[in-house]
Amino acid sequence: MEVVIAPADVLARLAADTVEGLLRTRPDAVLGLATGSSPLAVYDELVRRHVEEGLSFARARAFTLDEYVGLPLDHPQRYRNVIARELTDRVDLDPARVAGPDGAADDLPAACAAYEQAIVDAGGVDVQILGIGTDGHIAFNEPGSSLASRTRVKTLTAQTRQDNARFFDDDLEAVPQHCVTQGIGTILAAGHLVLLATGRAKAEAVHQMVEGPVSALWPASALQLHPHVSVLIDDAAASRLQLADHFRQTWAAKPAWQGL
Ligand code: F6R
Repeated sequence: MEVVIAPADVLARLAADTVEGLLRTRPDAVLGLATGSSPLAVYDELVRRHVEEGLSFARARAFTLDEYVGLPLDHPQRYRNVIARELTDRVDLDPARVAGPDGAADDLPAACAAYEQAIVDAGGVDVQILGIGTDGHIAFNEPGSSLASRTRVKTLTAQTRQDNARFFDDDLEAVPQHCVTQGIGTILAAGHLVLLATGRAKAEAVHQMVEGPVSALWPASALQLHPHVSVLIDDAAASRLQLADHFRQTWAAKPAWQGL
């Protein structure tokens, strides 16, 4: 697990460099996309590179992490609509090449199994962008989630519904109780995991993810089991890390050509 502590704009460029490097060498790469506020600056930077520097997504495919259950198809907070607005509609990526777990399916377990199969059929996710919840969730794998889990229906914690009420005009009741989400096992099968976190509210979750025991109590700690994880955090999110100085020194000494 590599931890990079830097200002938010630097982190966004580093994550964008990774996606760009992949697309320039493998234009048909499979991207894993997170919603939420953490990756927004990365997506803005990728859109800028598309518009100004010709970075093309035309042959890529993308899979999103999770989706609320029960939102109408045209709801602005449905993650499928969010990712279109924030990234995929702003680049040359055909909407037919973007998939997400189906939170509106009549048979949710069957839809979840089909989603797992679709990722496998695409050859797996090459680079997965991730955020982290204040309770340590990744995608919507809340505390207590199986570390081997696959795409399935989950119940959101009160904490996550409260955290996400800001996207629903601060109306807690409007935040769905249930979601469909890639499992931790699904996420761990991706080739390279790039997790972004900023702000003091994420500091405890980041500490548990990087330095805590691997535990279902802090689902993101399962990332310690993955061979290629880049944790991109600002000073505030790093403020609880015991090894922060070591991570800063390691990053400062890393040859620039190496990338993440
Ligand atoms: C959303 C997702 C979630 C978010 C997490 C952090 O697709 O996977 O795990 O990454 O809730 O959300 P923000 O970035 O809004 O703090």
